[in-house]
Amino acid sequence: MIPHEDYNKLYYGIEPLQGDEEIHIGGYRGYGRIDVFHAESGLELTKHRNTILYNDYQEYLTDGKVLELGSATGITVEDFRELGVDCEGVEWSDYLQDFIPANVRPYIHHASAVDHLMSVPDGHYKSIFGLRFLPCLTDDEVTALLTLAAAKSEYQIYIVDDYDSYPDDETRERLTDCYNIKTLEQWQAICGEIPCISILDERFQ
Ligand SMILES: C[S@@+](CC[C@H](N)C(=O)[O-])C[C@H]1O[C@@H](n2cnc3c(N)ncnc32)[C@H](O)[C@@H]1O
Repeated sequence: MIPHEDYNKLYYGIEPLQGDEEIHIGGYRGYGRIDVFHAESGLELTKHRNTILYNDYQEYLTDGKVLELGSATGITVEDFRELGVDCEGVEWSDYLQDFIPANVRPYIHHASAVDHLMSVPDGHYKSIFGLRFLPCLTDDEVTALLTLAAAKSEYQIYIVDDYDSYPDDETRERLTDCYNIKTLEQWQAICGEIPCISILDERFQ
């Protein structure tokens, strides 16, 4: 897995890189909103996915505080807040803090997910969700995180990269030290009753 200090410009690729630096260790080619529009909804692709999530899980996302684990620059926090969700994020990358827009800055906790969750009382959140977050953790960390999140919230939802999210064996091999690569069925078995959705889910296409 990627250590905390390596979630920096080599990971996100937001800033231009210089010289011989090896770029984008985690597979990103520049982190940000995807500047392509979904044909039917007319929404930019990330906003399209977040709107689908909101519509399908509205019951989880209204009447209480919601937390996104590993919220990066707060794109989903921003979209959910625009939809009326009382959404916060937690993001541990030091590098990313300067890229969080001012309108979401007050809602993003700069901490590790575990440290932040330990700092709030049980049941503090109505829901906790992770978007491409669980694959950043080792198996033992996933188990501990799921238990902690269940204590701190009524509902959880996890959207995961799965084995099929990687285009080929070479890419899977290259990223195997960065992410916990599992099939969707394996992720769903770990999550049990908790909704666990592939980032490639057909609803997002
Ligand atoms: C694969 S990125 C996904 C970002 C965003 N959720 C999205 O889907 O666009 C995972 C994010 O989780 C953050 N992260 C990983 N482990 C973390 C931890 N233990 N605590 C807080 N943030 C973490 C990383 O810094 C990174 O920004």
